[in-house]
Amino acid sequence: MQGLISIADLDKNKINEILKLSKLFKDGLRKKTLDGKVIASCFFENSTRTRLSFESAVVHLGGSTIGFADSSATSLATKGESLADTFKILSCYADALIIRHPLDGSARLASEICDIPVINAGDGANQHPTQTLLDLFSIMDSQGRLEGIKLGIMGDLKFGRTVHSLVEAVKWFGMQLYFIAPKHLRMGDEELFNLKTSGIQYSFHNSLDEVAHELDCLYLTRLQKERFVDEVISDTYKVNLASLANVKPNFKILHPLPRQEELPVEIDNTPYAYYFEQAQNGLYVRQALLDILFTNGSID
Ligand code: CP
Repeated sequence: MQGLISIADLDKNKINEILKLSKLFKDGLRKKTLDGKVIASCFFENSTRTRLSFESAVVHLGGSTIGFADSSATSLATKGESLADTFKILSCYADALIIRHPLDGSARLASEICDIPVINAGDGANQHPTQTLLDLFSIMDSQGRLEGIKLGIMGDLKFGRTVHSLVEAVKWFGMQLYFIAPKHLRMGDEELFNLKTSGIQYSFHNSLDEVAHELDCLYLTRLQKERFVDEVISDTYKVNLASLANVKPNFKILHPLPRQEELPVEIDNTPYAYYFEQAQNGLYVRQALLDILFTNGSID
């Protein structure tokens, strides 16, 4: 059985199938499919949304979870057990493994070692494919379409794994991208090359004010301070009420959360705030993923 390591493992048809099924879960039209299944939820790095929405999804589907939210209590941390052996042992006790780890490539390593499906819940600055699926679902649910969406992406585009996964998926939907980031946190050359190769239009901007009136959605990210030296983000890369004065009526702000100073709470009461519903959408999308995995035997 195949799990999900990278958003690149999914083609357009499969993404659309996941989004369609997610909508059925959101509308309460699909029920339990995980009876008797045990899912290992193993988080070697902190999480609130991804871990709890996955675990809630398993419970809603009739399965049960084992695992940990703090790997300092495992033999890996205290007895020198290798990461490879840890993965091997986890696969002895569960039908699928959901893993978050601070190292790029760790989920791929787990999938090569384990003989159960592995779902990547975030590996370092590399990928966060289930976040991308819920981001796409949120754009679709709030805009009624994915094709041709004008999407601003603002903040830390260099270290943010959610944006790395997201830009890999937009190629299927012909979105137009507006990158708004400080020079030293711009999107990497590899991602830009891939976008160019896929014919996706993108442009660089110094502030939200330059482009806010053109956007359908703004995808905002925080500084990934845990991945590089501490610094502060300038006011140019924060949303404020004035910067939203001329946005389109359908405009929505998405954020994978947690937020910091880039998204002040004063924005929460505007009609543009969609990020809490986006976080809730994570439950439906993760239900859909697990449903497909155990109904079809594979996600991709
Ligand atoms: N969006 C996201 O990955 O949040 P958590 O780190 O809380 O899981």
